[in-house]
Amino acid sequence: MYATVPAIRGFGGPSVARRRAAMVGAGHTKFGVLPEGPRALVRTAVEEAFQSVDRGFERTAVDEAFVGTLGFSGWQLGNISAVVAEEAGLVGAPVTRVENACASAGFALRDGVRAIESGAADVVLVVGVEKMNDTTSSRRRYWLGVSGETEWERSAGLTFAGVYGLMASRHIAEFGTPREALAEVAVKNHAHAERNPNAQFRKAITREQVLAAPRVADPLGLLDCCPVTDGAAAIVLAGEEIAPRFTDRPVFVAGTGAGSDYLALQERPSLTSLAATRWAAASAFRRAGFDRGSISFLEVHDCFTIAELLALEDLGFAEPGKAAELTLSGATRVGGTLPVNPDGGLKAKGHPIGATGASQAYEVFLQLRHTAGARQVEGAERALTHNVGGSGASATVTLFSAA
Ligand code: COA
Repeated sequence: MYATVPAIRGFGGPSVARRRAAMVGAGHTKFGVLPEGPRALVRTAVEEAFQSVDRGFERTAVDEAFVGTLGFSGWQLGNISAVVAEEAGLVGAPVTRVENACASAGFALRDGVRAIESGAADVVLVVGVEKMNDTTSSRRRYWLGVSGETEWERSAGLTFAGVYGLMASRHIAEFGTPREALAEVAVKNHAHAERNPNAQFRKAITREQVLAAPRVADPLGLLDCCPVTDGAAAIVLAGEEIAPRFTDRPVFVAGTGAGSDYLALQERPSLTSLAATRWAAASAFRRAGFDRGSISFLEVHDCFTIAELLALEDLGFAEPGKAAELTLSGATRVGGTLPVNPDGGLKAKGHPIGATGASQAYEVFLQLRHTAGARQVEGAERALTHNVGGSGASATVTLFSAA
């Protein structure tokens, strides 16, 4: 077992000069409980992504596509690639489905970036999609559980809220983390989502409401949890030398990193740190050559409020046990020194499992082009996205730059 992230493990550094990938278009459906099915969600997000390309876009330019999805409710569990090819108008082009639970689209984005970095493709479409609200609540519980460890966790009745509840309890016991800091994550992300027209919850909440909400898995209450969400997002990537054909305002991918961990909590050395996030961050920062101080804002995987605190610590923006202090100081609000989840995060924008990683990149596309409207992070130049699979069995981190 790795208690900490080993410094080097044969990857993480640019051993050869890499061609950068650039985001040249991005699209996003509304997130929430939606009438549309998965096909329509894919079509809407992809169409918006193609339309957003400044100099116009012919879909024949796409060499390859990657789609992130869990296949929630089993609507099209196998071969969803063909559905994406049809709905994106790309029949004939190779499409690959990527499944890493809640990190599916983060990993699909990484595969798209690597296809461009390696020279295997010039233009790539990345899609994330999930339809979660077309089934009964008992089947929803089943589908939420499928990405958890089966033998020790699921069969004992442990849900994801339960797993993160255990992590929160341990964090409180180890570091004295105040319950108010968890509540503040929810309050802040709801405040951000109020300014995001695509968000599921566009209503402000107070710390008192979070603390008084019905308990879901102690110490986490209803307002500490991400909701159950339908939605899709799409990104168009191009090689950096080709990007000017499409736009004067590309957003560059400076580095990607990924990591994995044991599936069951009991196998891990710590409940207060996700090693997969630490691996992913170490690798992404090494590839990009960025220091953390140069990052303008973060899009982190706040599926439960404790997850945002863990992310700040594991990504290296707070010492272990210190994310609560940072959060309570107001630094992580838009207008603070390190805005976190300006789009409302998974908590309030919503979390359609396989779509989240692409949705995070969509936010970066808007922010680094200074087109995010009322939630714009002033002067944003560099950003980080962080997407976690389940309770931390996998994670990916991507670093972006406006230049
Ligand atoms: N945050 C805020 N409000 C929420 C909410 C959330 N996470 N989930 C539901 N609500 C609201 C609904 O909008 C609804 O409000 P209304 O009465 O004003 O319309 C009300 O609470 C009841 O909604 P309902 O869907 O019946 O709630 P539920 O009890 O079935 O589900 C949770 C609540 C928290 C159990 C559910 O959202 C959940 O399972 N979240 C976690 C999803 C998850 O595990 N994802 C993977 C992460 S790793």
